[in-house]
Amino acid sequence: MWDQSQLRKYDLTLEAIPRLHHADPKIDEYIADNKPVVIAGSRVIRPAVDKWDMDYMEKCLGGPGLTVFVSQSHKFKYFDENKVQYCLRHGIDFVPPTRRCKMRIGEFVRRLREWKKGDDRLYLQQAVNSSVGNVVKDFMKFDWEYLAGKQAKHNWGPLSSNLLLLSMEGNVTPCHYDEQQNFFGQVYGYKRCILFPPSDYECLYPHPLYHPHDRQSMVDFDKPDYSRFPKFKKARGCEAVLEPGDILYIPIYWWHHVESLMRAGPTISVNFWYKGGPISLEYPLKDHQKVSISRNVEKMLVEVLQDPKEVGPLLEMMAGGRFGE
Ligand code: OGA
Ligand code: ZN
Repeated sequence: MWDQSQLRKYDLTLEAIPRLHHADPKIDEYIADNKPVVIAGSRVIRPAVDKWDMDYMEKCLGGPGLTVFVSQSHKFKYFDENKVQYCLRHGIDFVPPTRRCKMRIGEFVRRLREWKKGDDRLYLQQAVNSSVGNVVKDFMKFDWEYLAGKQAKHNWGPLSSNLLLLSMEGNVTPCHYDEQQNFFGQVYGYKRCILFPPSDYECLYPHPLYHPHDRQSMVDFDKPDYSRFPKFKKARGCEAVLEPGDILYIPIYWWHHVESLMRAGPTISVNFWYKGGPISLEYPLKDHQKVSISRNVEKMLVEVLQDPKEVGPLLEMMAGGRFGE
């Protein structure tokens, strides 16, 4: 179990994400509505929940080159390595907040056991494929029928990947959105997830699209700069603490911040990322579709202007004071 003191403190007003039993038909209403919901005690990942811990991973997670991120702080802010060069070429400063390296599971687990305050933090984030060893066997025993049922019912595209996440306690994945539907499965230990709807786009100030931190919020939840990001005060989030066996539905384009609880040991999660369904042009458009449109406009402007620094001023020129409140 856990208590409030194990959650990091933020200046946010948060509601609880509903928790429903895995057989509850209301789950489909939430999914159809693109609303988050915790599927509690899900059978889907049961074969993993029954067996997986760090000792088991040490024995069954194979391969010489598992992807591990190394950070000097508790935050692991994702960045797109393909966009780093682009920034440097255009004179935009970028210092990667984490280092990506390849490690064997033995070294990862040893460093977790020996970790003391002040050491670099580690976060293993590895796509599940045939090279990750015997854990794939448990994976094959997941309830794929249940997943395929949801995928078909809600018209999602194909499963694109599964990410296996092994975290130290206290690690944080800062607030961002993904362009995919996500069933986020909690296998071992406890994770707190804070979500915001796509309509909070303005409140969360995403980095520009060309920036390596594309899709990530510029707001540092530990120390929000309200003079730069005044609308962050208006963000209305919701949260859940996931326990082993829970699956959180993170709808496409929903913002999410994920933290492994403090003083609660390491965590193991596995997600299921699905491509979005075919776009239906039913009006009025949904908030997440508007985010998608604004991404396309931004992409086009960067391409035609050939200079990322001109995008903001052009948008200001276009909109500033013209369309009213
Ligand atoms: C995700 C995600 C982060 C984490 O599954 O989309 O952002 O730390 N996970 O689990
Ligand atoms: Zn994510």
